[in-house]
Amino acid sequence: MSRQICLILLGPPGAGKGTQAEILVEEKGFLHISSGELFRRNLENETELGKKAGQYIDAGELVPDEITISMVENRIREIDSGTDFILDGFPRTLVQAKALKEILADYDPDVDEVVLYLHVPYSELIERLTGRLTCRAHGHVFHKKYNPPQEQGVCDYDGSELYQREDDQLETVKNRVDVYMEKTEPLIAYYRERGILLQVDAGQDVEGVASEIESKLEKKQW
Ligand code: AP5
Repeated sequence: MSRQICLILLGPPGAGKGTQAEILVEEKGFLHISSGELFRRNLENETELGKKAGQYIDAGELVPDEITISMVENRIREIDSGTDFILDGFPRTLVQAKALKEILADYDPDVDEVVLYLHVPYSELIERLTGRLTCRAHGHVFHKKYNPPQEQGVCDYDGSELYQREDDQLETVKNRVDVYMEKTEPLIAYYRERGILLQVDAGQDVEGVASEIESKLEKKQW
């Protein structure tokens, strides 16, 4: 019997983590857990957690570790045993990465932790993010130029409205990229040293990235 997989998508804002996660869900049946999406649902529903996180998200800052870790831990504990899952946007700090290791050991010591690092030149991130369109109902992702919906303003998957995320305004995007470089980039070395990091060239078009991911995952004989 193959072991349960926790696939961590690591990369800067706009690297295509959400886009590739959607493809992996559709083609490989992964369960997708996006920390950003969990926060946005809480914001919309005006929960206590949403109120605490909102100010950080709007400014493009990271939500404090203790809030984020407990939110993701609760979600992981709900996953059925044996279900392969993607973590998109978590962990984003060394504290979170070390906490995740402990959470997984406690959830099931046999879970395989594998990291896909989506590498993109920084010059491309700004255009990707400021042109992004996000679906109101489920967070499906499109791009005005690179991945336009079939009908303008309407999600191809569920027909809901497409909108521009508040934190996709130019100034906030720049801050998110700076925060990534300072707080999240150190995770690349951390996971590389643990020998569980697969690097992907995410500067290609969506299909090119998806096929490189597929081949890298296959070489790991999944
Ligand atoms: P989150 O929602 O996780 O945002 P992010 O990491 O900044 O990632 P994005 O969703 O912006 O980008 P992505 O890599 O998923 O790219 P996408 O596929 O959409 O987090 C939001 C906020 O929540 C954070 O700023 C923070 O405040 C908080 N937060 C979340 N997690 C946290 C944590 N762990 N700790 C603390 N705080 C946390 O693609 C982007 C665009 O490019 C789309 O338009 C897409 O169509 C297009 N595109 C994708 N791939 C390609 C391609 N190959 N070629 C051309 N265009 C492409």
